Amino acid sequence: MPVVANYSLQAHNTMALPCRAAGFFTLRNDHDLDVLLETLHGQWRAQPLLILGGGSNVLLLEDFPGLVVHPGQRDIELLADHDNEVLLRVGAGRNWHDLVEWSVGRGYHGLQNLALIPGLCGAAPIQNIGAYGVEFSDCCVQVELCDLASGQCFALQRDDCEFHYRHSIFKTARARNWLVTAITLRLQHQAEPKLDYPGLRAALQQQNPGDCSTTDSASAHSPAAIAAAVCRLRRSKLPDPARLGNCGSFFKNPLVDAQQLHSLLAKAPQMPHWPVADSTAPGHSKLSAGWLIEQCGWKGRRRGAAGVHSQHALVLVNHGGASGMDIWQLACDIRSSVAERFGLVLEPEPVIIPTQN
Ligand code: EPU
Repeated sequence: MPVVANYSLQAHNTMALPCRAAGFFTLRNDHDLDVLLETLHGQWRAQPLLILGGGSNVLLLEDFPGLVVHPGQRDIELLADHDNEVLLRVGAGRNWHDLVEWSVGRGYHGLQNLALIPGLCGAAPIQNIGAYGVEFSDCCVQVELCDLASGQCFALQRDDCEFHYRHSIFKTARARNWLVTAITLRLQHQAEPKLDYPGLRAALQQQNPGDCSTTDSASAHSPAAIAAAVCRLRRSKLPDPARLGNCGSFFKNPLVDAQQLHSLLAKAPQMPHWPVADSTAPGHSKLSAGWLIEQCGWKGRRRGAAGVHSQHALVLVNHGGASGMDIWQLACDIRSSVAERFGLVLEPEPVIIPTQN
C-alpha cells in the first residue's frame, strides 16, 4: 500500500510543527507516478492534495485532511557538456544544497550564490528561490511537470514559467494540480562571479584559508569559494532549521514605485532601498521587510514559543512547542504594526495551509 495513513509531518516542515496528514505518498521514481495517478483516482479522489518537498516554505496551521505527495526522485543526469555549457537534469526530490555542493565540487558556475537554501530541487522554481544577487530563473532551462488532475506530463521552458521575484506560474491557480518532477539547469565552466550583494565580497576576503586551497584570484572566486562565503554569511544571520524551527524569510521584501518611495523616505530617510532589476516593475524599488519589522520593535521578541529571530527580524521561529496558529498570530500582529507605522502591507512568503487572507 503506497499511502501511509495518519502520517506525522513534523519532520517534513522546517518550522517543526507537529501536524499530521490523513495520507502520505512518497514518489521514489518516475514509475511511481502511475501508481500515484491511480491512487488519486481511487480512494483519494476528491480529497485535498498537498505537494510537500522539504517543507521549508510552508506554515501548516492544522492537520492536513487529504493526501500529501512527497517527491523522492533524486537523480542528477548530465545531459550535455560542451564548450562552456553544462546541462543538468535533476529529479525534484534532490536536496537543493546537495545539488549546489555537487555542482561546485565539479567547478561548475551558476549555483554557488544559492548555497544552503533549504528545501528540494522541485520547489526551487515554485517561488523562484533567490539569494545574494542570483535567482533560480538565471540558470533554469525547463521544468518538467505532471498535471495530477489530467495525468498529462509536459515541460515548460524558462520563458513560459513567468519568473519574477519570489514568484512563478507555479504559484498561480492554473498550476494547482501540477507536480514538478524534474528541472533542467544550464551551468558554465567559466563565468563572471556575481559578488555585488552587500557583504559578499567582504565575506570572500575574510575567507578562512582552509576553505580555499590557493590564493590566486581565480581560486579565490571559484564556485566552491563563493559557496563557502555564502554559507558563512547565511549561518551568521539565519537560524539552522535543524536546531531552531523556521521557514526562512517570513515576508517578501515589498516593492514600491518612485512616488511611494519618495513619501516613505520623507518620513524615514534612513530606510534601506534598492532599485529593482525586474523588467515587470520598471522604476520600482525593493525595501527591506527585515528593517521595517525591526523598526517596529519586533526583533528578538518572543510570545510563548513563537518568536522573531534575534539576528534577523524577517525570520519567525518556533522555540519548541509553538502551533502553526501561534506563529500565524504573531505574523498577523507584525503585519498590522508595519501597516500602521509605514502604510505597507507585508505579504507572507511561505505558503499558508489552509490559505488565509
Ligand atoms: N535588515 C535589518 N534588520 C534585520 C534584517 C535585515 O535592518 O533584522 C536590513 C539590513 O539593512 C540588511 C538588509 O535588511 O542590510 C538586507 O538583509 P539581508 O541581506 O539579510 O537580506 P533580506 O532582504 O532580509 C533576502 C531574502 C533571503 C536571502 C537574502 C540574501 C527575501 C524575502 N529574503 O533577505 O532569502 O537569503 O536576501 O540574498 O527576499 C528566504 O527567502 O527564506 C531567504 C532567507
